Amino acid sequence: MEFIDFSIRDTDAILSPGLVIFRQALQHNLDEMIRQSGEIARLRPHCKTHKMAAVIKLQLDRGITRHKCATFAEAEMLASCGVIDIVLAYPLVGPNLRRAVEFKTAFPLVNLRVIADHEQPVADLASAMQKASMVVDVLLDLDSGQQRTGLPPGDRAVALYQQISNSPGLRAGGLHLYDGQNHQTHLDERTEAVLQCWALADAFRNQLEKKDLRVPRIIAGGTGTFPVYAAIDDSVLELSPGTNTFFDAGYGELYPDLDYVPALRILTRVISRPTHETLTLDLGYKACASDPALSKRLAFPSLTGPEVILQNEEHLVLQTPDAHRYQPGDTLLAIPGHVCPTSALHKEALVIDDGRIVDTWPVSARDRWLTV
Ligand SMILES: Cc1ncc(COP(=O)(O)O)c(C=O)c1O
Repeated sequence: MEFIDFSIRDTDAILSPGLVIFRQALQHNLDEMIRQSGEIARLRPHCKTHKMAAVIKLQLDRGITRHKCATFAEAEMLASCGVIDIVLAYPLVGPNLRRAVEFKTAFPLVNLRVIADHEQPVADLASAMQKASMVVDVLLDLDSGQQRTGLPPGDRAVALYQQISNSPGLRAGGLHLYDGQNHQTHLDERTEAVLQCWALADAFRNQLEKKDLRVPRIIAGGTGTFPVYAAIDDSVLELSPGTNTFFDAGYGELYPDLDYVPALRILTRVISRPTHETLTLDLGYKACASDPALSKRLAFPSLTGPEVILQNEEHLVLQTPDAHRYQPGDTLLAIPGHVCPTSALHKEALVIDDGRIVDTWPVSARDRWLTV
């Protein structure tokens, strides 16, 4: 993005490998998300990408009041920032059923909503809530084809929604549909796939309503798909992108139609120059997510044709015709291929504005639990 300056005037104070967030890029991404949503009240961004209280505060300042998370630590971070409408979009089982009660006890003003796709955890959650004289909203997790969690629309899903609705301690809170399978690069193909998912959800909602079961909300979409859902005129629809807050090299390649900018980068240093064409950086897979293939794990905008040839825990070796221009100690900025698990590997990030370090933001919810 040409209008944003990604230089840092003085890198001496920055330990590497370290996260840096370019404030203008982050602001651009938040504004673009709001623009694409068409209506800010429909947004329910997922905080798993950043896990940072400081980012939640920026979203709250812009008027984004509904939020989504995947862990109790993230829910607690959201609650501590003053968010009162939280969807924990991860099926609760085992001790997490008890944590729902503990969370509601610790944060009585928060409207915690959870998701479910199976009869037994729903029964267990109902009895935990009843015992504590509490009520929690439960959204039915609908599988639109990803086959990760959720039930496909059908009789069993109707019966589960009915069970939620009939259970003291639970309130039927609508439908949750994350279409993580829709990664089509071509916008027309993605749009068609999303509209098929929506048709499933819409027909299923009609089936529920015919049985007098209310569907107060349908939460759908991620970074690549929420703009398509945003064009659908339906008052219960909420949009839940996550990655677009920081964006990354992976989504940049996958979704050329989107106007987001990689706002979080990793500052790394050359630690060795083993050959004339190779550089070794202090950027091992303990500092960046290693789920993308080696060739897509990191992007280096300032290098010509970089090819990562080896990554160990603390080392990264890459080949580039520019190698001879670098000396040990020189810095580079890398864009993560997958930003969400990358931010969780770091304790904090430095915020850069106008080339200067202006703040330090803790990665508040990187742990699995905080107090609850
Ligand atoms: C349940 C759920 N909702 C929303 C999102 C956000 O999607 P994206 O990262 O594509 O923005 C994710 C991402 O993994 C997710 O798992």
